[in-house]
Formats: sequence, structure tokens, C-alpha cells
Amino acid sequence: MTGESEDRFWFYVLDPGLLVQGSNLLAVEVHQNAADSPDLSFDLALSDIPPPELLRGPYLQLGTDQSVRIRWRTFSSSDSAVLYGPAPGNLNQLVSVPGHTTEHEVELTGLQPDTVYYYAIGSTSGGILSGNDLQHFFRTHPPAGENRPFRAWILGDSGTANTDARAVRDAYQTYTGSAHTDLWLMLGDNAYENGEDVEFQAAVFETYPEMLRKSVLWPTRGNDENSEAVYYGIFSMPTQGQAGGLASGSEAYYSFDFANVHFVCLDSDTSSRLPGGPMLTWLENDLASTMQPWIVAFWHHPPYSKGGHDSDVDADSGGRLRDMRQYALPILEAYGVDLVLTGHSHSYERSFLIDGHYGYSTSFNPLTMLIDGGDGNPNGDGAYQKEIGPHAGTVYCVAGSSGSISSSGSLDHPVMYTSLRSLGSLVLEVDDLRMEVKFLDHQGQVQDSFTLWTGDTPLVFSTTGLFAGFMTSLIVNGADPGNAVYFLYSLTGSGPTQTQFGVMDLTMPITQLGPVTADGQGKAILSTSIPASAAGRSVYLQAFELQGVGVGRFSNPLTEWVH
Ligand SMILES: [Fe+2]
Repeated sequence: MTGESEDRFWFYVLDPGLLVQGSNLLAVEVHQNAADSPDLSFDLALSDIPPPELLRGPYLQLGTDQSVRIRWRTFSSSDSAVLYGPAPGNLNQLVSVPGHTTEHEVELTGLQPDTVYYYAIGSTSGGILSGNDLQHFFRTHPPAGENRPFRAWILGDSGTANTDARAVRDAYQTYTGSAHTDLWLMLGDNAYENGEDVEFQAAVFETYPEMLRKSVLWPTRGNDENSEAVYYGIFSMPTQGQAGGLASGSEAYYSFDFANVHFVCLDSDTSSRLPGGPMLTWLENDLASTMQPWIVAFWHHPPYSKGGHDSDVDADSGGRLRDMRQYALPILEAYGVDLVLTGHSHSYERSFLIDGHYGYSTSFNPLTMLIDGGDGNPNGDGAYQKEIGPHAGTVYCVAGSSGSISSSGSLDHPVMYTSLRSLGSLVLEVDDLRMEVKFLDHQGQVQDSFTLWTGDTPLVFSTTGLFAGFMTSLIVNGADPGNAVYFLYSLTGSGPTQTQFGVMDLTMPITQLGPVTADGQGKAILSTSIPASAAGRSVYLQAFELQGVGVGRFSNPLTEWVH
């Protein structure tokens, strides 16, 4: 432990039944986390203040379009009850689970898709413990395949429970404001140093209580979640394809659908990463069976990184970075994965749109592996245009800086468009054909933003200006390479005129120039001279791309003044 973690007290509840009359002996063991750690400190206080009855939660797990699980922990055991309904004060449904426990898990079923429900938790004997207010609600998933816009929050290596993690959290809360977070992902190392229950208490349950009770959290396991029993005890993952996707039979790796996105969680830490092993066999079958247009995959160990971890070093993290790159990526890319989210390196590293790079960084060949070498920003080089289908390009994000940043690493992996030593988290927004990802730093600044787009590229028409007696260039971008592009103009008005290809924004008579064949970048340029006599009048222009026999589309219209 370092920094403020050194001074944190961990709270344990001592069962009073273990105490006897007279003196009691309390034995405590203290262990160094690493053999070479130079310091060790210990302090202990025993208090008779009873802890609050509600120790943890409520938190939401395993959301589907018809169900959700609500979990919480109490100090004393009781049965489990959830009231829910359309509004606080109108919680007209009750689900109770008999049997006394301190670890409560209630599944609500038979819910309406894409619907907000308010809720309260408690027990049948003790009444409401928490909820029945505007802060306790959930919204069920929209049906799979529906184009409902949504927002997801993504945290990597957030488990420090310190001021850095809280700054990242607060920056996102300020950014998102009253907009609902539909789901959130944790990319592993969610509770340092060892993923013990008390560490989860501090790093997850006491750090994100507001988000936990209204947005379903989907985790993956990092190398610091050392305790299998603690990790799988806290989280409820789908093993039977309950939330969409194919049954994985394992809580370590699973998939689910949200609207028109298929999310795939892999376990890069403990499960076999080998081809033909259970995880990658399931992965291939799962991807083969999804009909969703978007696919997002997430796990802990990054396939490409030059941050705190180096994906070129085979021995780094026991070969986990290399294995995921060599064995998981070819399957994911063959089934058209769009976005891969990982952590582990405490930095932000984000790739270009790439495909087919499974070796060391020295083997990255931009000529064959770079699908789009721009920034992916619609306000910069333009969105990444994606086809649906295999090997159409993937963006890889390392987002492991939600709890701390690392000073090590050269941050110069050649697949990366940008590499930042900044605290922050990711905002993922999907709206039909558009997927946008932002890296939001701990001060609320968007330091990187890119967009994937699966629709047609718009046909964009521009000119260099019309000057009487001079040449001008008529320019079209966004055509399919090799297609014929025509340039049309009218001196009388902006239409409309009905044609066999649709409505044209020009008035007859219309003059046609071209065609010009669009080049490899989809650009077509025609240079023409403007007669000296044309000065002082308007010209109405529009371009047209012939896409096949009887099939074509028009560009944006232009109205130009001849100077
Ligand atoms: Fe890690």
C-alpha cells in the first residue's frame, strides 16, 4: 500500500457471541503485500459502537429486459424483501425471499422492458431499510436489437478507494448530470490490493453508492481480485444467457445484450486463454449466434499497451497480454468486434481503427493493418466508417486510469492514436448507427473522443468559390471509390425536380458536367472555368453519385454567388 491507503482503517465486525465474560484475547495477523516492501505499520482500536444495519448496497446486478437482481448486506440476519412500483410512495409490488441471511439477493421478474421502476429494500418483519425515494430506481433493458440511445460508464483499475478514484467519479457525475447511466462496466482491479471483501467495501460500495443503486454494474476480474470466493460472492453474472447471448456456463466470462449492442466479458486472468479451451470455444459460438450490429468486448489485460505493462514482453503478467492478443483477437475480429475495452496499465491508450495485428508492435504494418489512420473525430478527420461484418476494423482502448496513474511506460505503441498519462474514465454512447467514446479526465475535460459509424458516408459537395473569368474546383467527398460522380447546376433556382433517383434540389433547365470517377479515397474533383459574363448572379449546384444501374444518390445542395 502506498499514499493515503497507508492510513486507512479497515473495519471488521466482531460477532459479540465470540466474546466471553472477563478478559478476551484478540489475535491479529499482519502481512506484507510484497517481500521487498520496506515498511509495515499496524494500529488497532476496538469499539462497541454498533455498525449501521445496512452495511452494503443496495446494488443492481444482472439486468435484462424483464428482470433485475437487487442485492444488499445487513448487520443482522433477516429475510429479504423488495417493494417496487411506478413511483416512490406507490411501490405496489412485493417480492420476498424466505430464509434468514445477511447477504440479500432478490430477483424481480416479469418486468416491462425499457421501463423505470422505483424500489425499496428491507425485510417482511423489519420493514423498509432503504429506498422508496427518487434515488432508488432502475430502468430495465430495452429489448435486444432495439435502437434505443443509451449511455454506459466504464471504469478501469478504479479500486484504489482514494482521492484519485473519487475525483474520476465526481467528474463523471458532473458530466452526466441528470442523464441516466444505463449500465456501467468495471474492467478489473476493482478493489486493491487483493480484492478482499473489506477492500471491495471501500473501493466499490463506499465509493459509488449512488451509481450502484440505479445502474447495473457488469464487472470483469483483474489480477488483483485474488479471492475467487469474494469476487464471485459479490457479483451475479449470467451463466445461462439470461441477458442475451449464449450460455457460458461460467461467471468468469459471459455476454449480454443492451439495445443494439452485444457486450462480451472475457476473463483474461484465470480462465484458459488457449484456442480450443472452454472460454474461446464459447466466445466463437457466442459471436456466431449474435444478430446485434454492434459488438463491444471487455476484459482486464490489454492486447496492446506501452504503459505500466508492456504487451511486447511475453513474460508481462504471465503472458496474459500476449495470449489475449494472439488467441482472442483473431476470433473477435473475424466476427466484427467494434470496440475492445481493457485496463491493467494505469494510463489511457486508444488505437486507430485497425485489424489483423496479432504480433509484437514491431510487426504492425500500417499498409495492411490500418483501416483508418485518422483521429475518428467527426470534427477532425471524420468518424471511423465501419462496415458490418468480419475484419472491418476495431478500436482498442486501455482505460486503466480510473483509480491511479502510472509513471512507467513509454506510451508509444504504434497502434495507438493517443496515449495519455491522465486519470479518467470512459463514456460510451450508442445511438443507432453511431457509437461514440469519450475519455473524460478527473477534471471533467474530454481529452479524447472518437466515433464509429456504420451508416453510409454522406456525399459532401463543396467548391473553391466561383469567380467570373477564373477556374473553380467542384469537389465531392464520400463517394464509393470507382463510382461515377456528376456535377449538376441550374441558373434558375433550387428545385425541387423529381427524377428517377429521387428529388433533386435544382430547377430546370439543368446542366450536367462530368462524370468524374471517384478515387481510392472516395473523392472526385472537376475543374471548370466560370465565364466572365456570369459575374453577379447565383448558381445552384448539386452533385450526384451513380451507385449502380438505376441507383444513385444526391449530395448536399449548394447556392454560390459568382464574384
Ligand atoms: Fe491489473
